[in-house]
Amino acid sequence: MILIKKSGDLLSHISKLRASNLRIGFVPTMGALHLGHLSLIEAAKKNCDVVVCSIFVNPTQFNQLSDLNSYPRTIENDIQLLLSCSCDILFHPEVTEIYGETLEKESTEDYGTFIHLLEGASRPGHFDGVVTVLRKLFKIVLPHQVFFGQKDYQQCLVVNMLIQRSFPEVKFNLCPIAREIDGLAMSSRNVRLTASERLLAPKIYENLQLVAQNWNLTSWQSAMNQAIENLSNEPFVFEYLSACDQNSLEELGSFQEDAIILAAVRLGSTRLIDNIIIQP
Ligand code: PAF
Repeated sequence: MILIKKSGDLLSHISKLRASNLRIGFVPTMGALHLGHLSLIEAAKKNCDVVVCSIFVNPTQFNQLSDLNSYPRTIENDIQLLLSCSCDILFHPEVTEIYGETLEKESTEDYGTFIHLLEGASRPGHFDGVVTVLRKLFKIVLPHQVFFGQKDYQQCLVVNMLIQRSFPEVKFNLCPIAREIDGLAMSSRNVRLTASERLLAPKIYENLQLVAQNWNLTSWQSAMNQAIENLSNEPFVFEYLSACDQNSLEELGSFQEDAIILAAVRLGSTRLIDNIIIQP
């Protein structure tokens, strides 16, 4: 695996690979890698000739400085994991390499109403930062295909829109959520859970499943109410559990066969999200 820290070096390396007709797969991350990230790298390896993973803790997508500062940084371990799955290139730039001296971000105001819902409401400005950094990274990595995890479903919709608008030649791949044996969605933030919080955390997925298993005209709403009640009990600090349209993310007013159930809760100082897509 080649480790590259400078944008110019990566751009010229990728340009040569593209000139040799090699297909570039890209997995952008903020590090603290786990098996979920590795499943994205594996998907990229299956579909492309060369896989680039970026590790960059993007300051513009955090709304709270404390969250940015406490974001886990485990670069040595990350490198070992990337070597274990034969990733080809690791791009690990400094903040100034990507942003220069000022942390300016673009606006996603015109992306549509879905941008303001759910994560957009809980974390104002978050998607502005995500789009800003991905536009910069896509221009350096020049990927043919990109790979994102379904856990950040709303982010996937945002990235899809960025691609449609500005990088139509790039193929977007939505990859399934990797889960621990007890169902907890893998996340870099899980390491922050205390032992007792870690035991409770699978309840998020259990309650999403409760809704998914009762997804029919007569019981979907009572299952939703039950799941909300379960997750609103201490020590969960409930943010949302919503049944939404898969494209608009509008909350469903009446039953429809396909939907997505999304949840966000806080457990102690850790914010966890998860979802289940319901197909007819
Ligand atoms: O999902 C993430 O880890 C980040 O939002 C991303 C896509 C790497 C952008 O910083």
